[in-house]
Amino acid sequence: MRKQSIVIALFAIGFALSITQACKKSEDTPVTPAPSEFIADNNTFKSFQNWHLHATKNGVDPAMLKTAHGGDDSTSVRKIYFPTNNVSSSNGQYPLGTIVSKLTTWQKNGGGSMITAMAKRGNNFDPSGNNWEYFVLAADGSIMVDNGTVMRGANLMNGMCKGCHASAATKDYIFTK
Ligand code: HEC
Repeated sequence: MRKQSIVIALFAIGFALSITQACKKSEDTPVTPAPSEFIADNNTFKSFQNWHLHATKNGVDPAMLKTAHGGDDSTSVRKIYFPTNNVSSSNGQYPLGTIVSKLTTWQKNGGGSMITAMAKRGNNFDPSGNNWEYFVLAADGSIMVDNGTVMRGANLMNGMCKGCHASAATKDYIFTK
């Protein structure tokens, strides 16, 4: 009889303890939310010519280039810059905020140049294009304004940029990595 009441008492204590434990809420550790969108501004690509020169391409790219980037002739030189040598994709995806620029120059017809860029904007900016934003830059690396239009967006140049880059979709729209 005594033994039994001790067992009951122990059981009761155990039960009470387990209830207290269950009710004790774990303290929520404050977490700074990671930014979910990268919005490039006029400073983002400013010093791109001092970035890491990842690749230099000469002449026409017979497979893909066609009229892209104005560099469709034998004199064209195309330089692709990433901010550092360490930019890489993981599971086939580049991280939010990845940026890359391309400078194309040519000699024909008096010569010329064009600077294009891409930024992984994220935040469902353009799910059908894996959330990349496309840009045409002015010579100083700021985002070009043409006839009052800021040259940026998912569907820049009526979707031409994205349309062609989609053929590199398995590499997250980046041809040269
Ligand atoms: C007809 C196809 C085509 C179109 C249109 C095109 N690109 Fe490209 N782009 C390429 C190819 C191919 C490369 C790889 C480098 C090379 O061969 O010059 C490239 C490279 C790039 C790069 C360097 C990163 C990479 O993918 O290697 C950027 C940045 C870029 N393009 C931006 C743009 C922007 C912005 C536009 C629209 C204004 C655009 N592209 C339109 C074919 C295209």
